Amino acid sequence: MNIELAKQGQALFTEHCADCHQPRNGKVYDNLGTSMKRAYVVGTLLNYAARKELYDNCSPDTTIKLYGQDIKPCAEFEGVSLTGKKDLLMSPNAEHHGYNARPLSGIWAQAPYLHNGTVPTVYHLLVPDERPASFIKSRLDYDKKYLGYSWNPQQATGKNEGYMFQTNAIPALSNKGHDKDIVEGKRTYRLNWSGDKHGAFAIIEYLKTL
Ligand code: HEC
Repeated sequence: MNIELAKQGQALFTEHCADCHQPRNGKVYDNLGTSMKRAYVVGTLLNYAARKELYDNCSPDTTIKLYGQDIKPCAEFEGVSLTGKKDLLMSPNAEHHGYNARPLSGIWAQAPYLHNGTVPTVYHLLVPDERPASFIKSRLDYDKKYLGYSWNPQQATGKNEGYMFQTNAIPALSNKGHDKDIVEGKRTYRLNWSGDKHGAFAIIEYLKTL
């Protein structure tokens, strides 16, 4: 660990990343250019059917007997009554067309990155110009410099682990996105650090501490 570098990274993270990657950020983002193929996991019909099914099977009035007692298992959630909240069971599709920006604690262990696992290391996420079209997945040894499991077919581990993964096999496996500056209101968030490798490594050093 290089604490000085991590501090520089913390400042950059606060400026360019933290507004999105904060705990309980309920927003979804569809403006980062990553593949949208998984953003509509639940179609309109399925959404309707699930809502109906859920509420019909277990409404706030549904009563079951458990150990001789009358229990209403679907009457409340964390102390809040669910009566009259059928429409909240699943929000309309248009409201979740995109991806969450999750808090990045323990992110070093969550490679490969993006919802479709197409970017092998944090370095490649921050330096999109160098993202490999194919890389080795499922190796257990670790690339401490770039932050991700060993991915480079040129680096033999001698263990014959993993398999070659092709990001250009089908559109849903695209490794594009999270690679251009994002402007929101008066703020500009830098997502492409290809021109500032020192900044990229500072952010990487900070992310190791989360
Ligand atoms: C405008 C909001 C926004 C900003 C700013 C932003 N991100 Fe993200 N980030 C996202 C979203 C949304 C995703 C998920 C995208 C996907 O999976 O398709 C993501 C994904 C990631 C991932 C992969 C997470 C995973 O589990 O695979 C990492 C790592 C990451 N961002 C780091 C950063 C860093 C570092 C910065 C600052 C330099 C940053 N992000 C700035 C919204 C943002």
